Amino acid sequence: MCGIVGYVGKQKASTIIIEGLKRLEYRGYDSAGVAVLEPQGITVAKKIGRVENLVKEAAKIKLSGTTGIGHTRWATHGGVTDANAHPHLSSDHKFALIHNGVIENYNSIKKFLLTKGYSFASETDTEALVNLIAYHFEKEPALDDKSRFLESVRKALMHVEGTYGIAVICSEHPGELVAARKASPLILGVGEGEYMLASDVSAMISRTQNVVYLKDGELVHITPQAFSIITQAEEDVSPVVNQVTWSVEDTEVGNYAHFMEKEIFEQPSALENTMRGRFSEDGSTAQFGGLNLSPVEFRQIDRFAFCGCGTAWHACLVAEHLIERFARVPVEVDYASEFRYRNSPLDGNTLFFVVSQSGETIDTLGALREAKRKGYKVLAINNSVGSSIAREADGGIYQHVGPEIGVASTKAFTSQLLVGAMIALYIARMRDMSFSDGVEYVKALKGVPDLVRKTLEQAPRLKEIAQRYAQFDDMLFLGRMSLFPIALEGALKLKEISYIHAEGYPAAEMKHGPIALISEKCPSVFFAPKGEIFNKLVSSIQEIKARKGPTIVITTEGCELPPGLADEVVYLPECHEAVLPIVATIPVQLLSYYMAVARGCDVDKPRNLAKSVTVE
Ligand code: AGP
Repeated sequence: MCGIVGYVGKQKASTIIIEGLKRLEYRGYDSAGVAVLEPQGITVAKKIGRVENLVKEAAKIKLSGTTGIGHTRWATHGGVTDANAHPHLSSDHKFALIHNGVIENYNSIKKFLLTKGYSFASETDTEALVNLIAYHFEKEPALDDKSRFLESVRKALMHVEGTYGIAVICSEHPGELVAARKASPLILGVGEGEYMLASDVSAMISRTQNVVYLKDGELVHITPQAFSIITQAEEDVSPVVNQVTWSVEDTEVGNYAHFMEKEIFEQPSALENTMRGRFSEDGSTAQFGGLNLSPVEFRQIDRFAFCGCGTAWHACLVAEHLIERFARVPVEVDYASEFRYRNSPLDGNTLFFVVSQSGETIDTLGALREAKRKGYKVLAINNSVGSSIAREADGGIYQHVGPEIGVASTKAFTSQLLVGAMIALYIARMRDMSFSDGVEYVKALKGVPDLVRKTLEQAPRLKEIAQRYAQFDDMLFLGRMSLFPIALEGALKLKEISYIHAEGYPAAEMKHGPIALISEKCPSVFFAPKGEIFNKLVSSIQEIKARKGPTIVITTEGCELPPGLADEVVYLPECHEAVLPIVATIPVQLLSYYMAVARGCDVDKPRNLAKSVTVE
């Protein structure tokens, strides 16, 4: 992993590729490189660190060719070094290749190629593949010019175990590019007299909005005039050209300091977009266009399973709470990565949901495939039209929040919470929820953008708190019921962007262990909203205060806390139970963001993280 860009056309390839790589920077990476076909052969520039380092490196050499490939690498096999950065050249220098994914049998391929005289300059799995392509190219001299390049890639891939999104150029085939995918995203951009290739639409959106989403097992052969797609089994594929609905402005930071900040403040409109057109005419329930299940079929389901990773998994936990609470149907939630391997016994009438912003997370994709293999219908809650998960699911619900660029998920999360709340309503109204309760629930959902807007007005207050607490090394996030997953999310948000050690716990679990951490050096963020367990929450906060733990309490407007209990108080507007998790998320997003900024962290590009994790 992590980012792929390719160009075939009439312009200077390196400029376009580097611009594309800059647009992929948000995905997280540790080195970058570019390879361009020049009259004298393939020229490569690559460097560890930011794309800016690559720009300086590329400026030292002449790159004027019009066909090329570029990559941002997030290390898997081999350390972060210039030699391990992509593109990789075959040892005869005829091929350059960029690769996302993992070649699991690279060692045996490498051993074989060493016996054939090929040499290796890096520690990567990728270099085995580029040399294997070179090997097949030499083996097929009889093939005509066009098919020799494509065939050598196709044949090499037949021997590969693992996952890949690759793009290859060949010095003996100027103006041509071959790319292929298996479980790693790859998109072809169809421009005016030019083609682009990328692992993410945002890399090409400034040049074209017409895209072809390549499927697993497909190979594309591109020249400046045309492209053709075949399958690994050599069948021709009729391509479907799709129009991307968002624009280049959606991928730019505008007047904000960071994408994360922009995306936090975009949430009211993002939530409006998620809900648009999704309520019944009588205003008493939700409706979804893409479930591919009739209400009768849906009514027969007596168990739901939800899977996701990281933040998306937190959204699954909230969906579980709301569906069980309002629809009284059992729900099971799994980490996608665990579900695949733990062979969980599921009931016959289970409907499976996978939740993923990117639609490319390999663990979630693996869970989807495993559930389908077991014969379950799988629906996806997903933000990326055309993504692998969107394509492979039997149906689903698009989030419609536009591109999320910040590595720390914000607007995608609250939108997933909203979709979960809408699903709970949809199921509940098929069962025991009355018409009037449904109307009240719908009203609450429709009001959520305004509640979020109101909560966002507390940003200056949260900034002030963040500055006071930014230098602590540990922090706890505590909540109960539907706010326990929000405590987990608050802790995840804080640790991923500020590197402060943070943990989320159900508030009452405190006394079973984590309370040992409490001291004046370990502040706690406490969700204590109005409700039946408010007094119990107050008691838990007392236990922290008794041990000198600083407390930041997030409660509901009008709630009175005993004097001296909270060092800081943040108020949430009063709201319906179904939307409380969404509203309560806002203060912890803001707190994490401002704490990371106060610590001087690179909020949009946190260390070691990638926006979408396409390796296991
Ligand atoms: C969120 O802040 C994280 N960066 C991460 O946990 C993320 O939610 C996870 O990797 C799942 O991504 P997905 O929604 O694209 O599948």
